Amino acid sequence: MAQAVQPVIGIIGGSGLYDIDGLSGKRWEKVESPFGEPSDALLFGDLDGQPLVFLPRHGRGHRLSPTHVNYRANIDALKRAGVTDILSVSAVGSLKENLPPGKFVLVDQFIDRTFAREKTFFGAGVVGHVSMAHPVCGRLLDRLAEAAGQQKIDHQRGGTYLAMEGPQFSTKAESKLYRSWGCDVIGMTNMPEAKLAREAEICYASISMVTDYDCWHPDHDHVTVEQVVQVLMNNAEKARGLIKALVPLLAERHMPCEQGCDRVLDTALITHPEA
Ligand code: ADE
Repeated sequence: MAQAVQPVIGIIGGSGLYDIDGLSGKRWEKVESPFGEPSDALLFGDLDGQPLVFLPRHGRGHRLSPTHVNYRANIDALKRAGVTDILSVSAVGSLKENLPPGKFVLVDQFIDRTFAREKTFFGAGVVGHVSMAHPVCGRLLDRLAEAAGQQKIDHQRGGTYLAMEGPQFSTKAESKLYRSWGCDVIGMTNMPEAKLAREAEICYASISMVTDYDCWHPDHDHVTVEQVVQVLMNNAEKARGLIKALVPLLAERHMPCEQGCDRVLDTALITHPEA
């Protein structure tokens, strides 16, 4: 019979979100990983009785560029901390007129255009190919949409996130190309994070907080960090409210993931067990 599990919620905080307030029993603890250094120590605590683990993706003080984040060590550290569900919080640019700065997009698809990052836990000795057809956990997405509704946060459910390498923002030609592909938002961090979460059998969903219109928009010729940071300050407050509303919705003991995120490796390994 399927076993119910007590969820442990992991939050990966992006630009502007380096801490979570309201946690009881708060402690920062370093978690070692064979994949190298995670971005920072993990912040452990309880939010209204629900165990929660927070990791600032760029490190406190924003020391790591998107390319230099060690995504494998981050996901591995969260797995070792017992995390069952990851909520990724990220700043993004908008590729659609109807997604203005301040809007939250609960993305459900990704296009990975990053090229200078370690993207898998497999390779040397053990080969595995996990499905990424549905990269976001449907159950987590449902709860997120419910929490966003409760908080009256202006959001879009679903959308495609284009992950670029950065750290420079796009050229106008690139921005127009991604629009022609039907992408909704653009960011620098959700890949390979989502792929690695899947390989680690952790449910994953992402809140993409729009900070700018990228450079395709006729009225917004450039993206500037100043503009991004200004919107982020307001967005970070809304993200904290959303997390607070989401936690009780996830807190009930849940059955194994209906989508199978927590057992993808059952059907993904190709290396012979005796090889
Ligand atoms: N993060 C925030 N705004 C962005 C943009 N326009 N492009 C890529 N990453 C971003």
